[in-house]
Amino acid sequence: MTKKNIALLTGGYSKEYDVSVSSGKVVAANIDSELFNVYQINISIDRWTYHDGSKLIDIDKNDFSLTLKNEKIKFDAAFIGIHGTPGEDGKLQGYLDIMGIPYNTCGRTTSAVTFNKYFSNELIGSWGYHVAKTLYIHRRDKIDHKLILDYTGLPCFVKPNCNGSSVGISKVHNLEELQPALDMAFAEDDEVLVQEYIAGIEVTCGIYEKDQTPVVLPLTEIVSANEFFDYQAKYTQGYSDEITPARINNKLTVQCKEISLELYRRLNCRGIVRFDYILTPETPRKEREFYFLEANTIPGLSEASIVPKQAASIGLSLKQLFTDVINETISYY
Ligand SMILES: Nc1ncnc2c1ncn2[C@@H]1O[C@H](COP(=O)(O)OP(=O)(O)O)[C@@H](O)[C@H]1O
Ligand SMILES: [Mg+2]
Repeated sequence: MTKKNIALLTGGYSKEYDVSVSSGKVVAANIDSELFNVYQINISIDRWTYHDGSKLIDIDKNDFSLTLKNEKIKFDAAFIGIHGTPGEDGKLQGYLDIMGIPYNTCGRTTSAVTFNKYFSNELIGSWGYHVAKTLYIHRRDKIDHKLILDYTGLPCFVKPNCNGSSVGISKVHNLEELQPALDMAFAEDDEVLVQEYIAGIEVTCGIYEKDQTPVVLPLTEIVSANEFFDYQAKYTQGYSDEITPARINNKLTVQCKEISLELYRRLNCRGIVRFDYILTPETPRKEREFYFLEANTIPGLSEASIVPKQAASIGLSLKQLFTDVINETISYY
C-alpha cells in the first residue's frame, strides 16, 4: 500500500498560537510514519510554510501543494491541529473544501457554528438542552450595566463570542467589575457575551469517529485551583486536576455521554470533538443537570490535554487514535 501524504497544519492566527504549536508537536510525533508521510505546515497570517530542515518553503495556495526539489507534492488529507482561527472556525475547512482535500475535523458550517458561542448556545438551547442564560452585545451597541445585570444576575461571566483557551474571559462579582470585564472581552472580539453563572462541577466528554461509528471516551472532571478554568489553570502545571473518569455516578455518566452523542450527531460532527458541561448540584427542588458550555471541535492534543488523557485511560495510544482519525478522514470522501 502506498503511503498517504498528510499535511499537518499547525500554528494559526490567534492568541492560541502557542497552544496550537504544543498540540502540533504531539500530533507530529504521534502520527504513524510507517503508514503516512507527514508534512508539517505552519499557518501564519503572512505565510504558509514547510521547513525542509534548512529553509522555509512556501505552500502554493492555488492548489495546496508543496514543491520539494522540483517535485510537486499533493496531499491526500489534511490534519488540522490549529486552535482558534483559521483552523477551528470553518475558514480552513472552506478552503480545503474548495481544494477538494479531505480533513480530520467537522465541516465548515459545523466548525463555524460551534466556534460561535452565541449561535451554538442558542441552537443547542432551542433543542431543549440546558444552557446558561446569555446576553449578546456587539461593539456598536449602547451598554447599560444595570440592564445587563438585571438579566444575568451576579456573579456572571463575560466572554468574547469567538475565542478559546479562556482568553478574555472574566467572572464578574459586582457592578464595578463589569466594565473592565467588558473591555477585556472586547479587546478580543467585536461580539461579547454576558452569561449567568452556572454553579457546579465541570465535566467534559470526548468523542471521535471510527468506522462511521462515534466512540465516546471516558468523562473527565475538571477541578481548577482558580475560581474558574482560566488560561493559567488550563496551561500551568499544578493549577488544575483533570480526573478521569469523572467522579459521578453511573446514571449521570450515561446521561452525559448520551447528550454528547446526540449533539455529535445533530451538529453533524466529524473527528475528535470535546463537549464541555457544568453539572449542577442537587437541590430539594431540582435534580442535577448538565448545562452545555461549549463544543470544542479542535480540542487540545498536547500531552497535558484532556482528550489524550481520556484516550490513555482506556489504553488507546495517540498513534492509534490519530491513525483511526486519518483513516476515517480518507474513507469519508
Ligand atoms: N456561564 C458560566 N458559568 C460558570 N462557569 C463558566 C461559565 N462560562 C464559562 N465558565 C468557566 O470559564 C471556562 C471557559 O469558558 P468557555 O466558555 O469554555 O470558553 P473557552 O472557549 O475559552 O474555553 C469554563 O471552562 C468554565 O470554567
Ligand atoms: Mg472551554
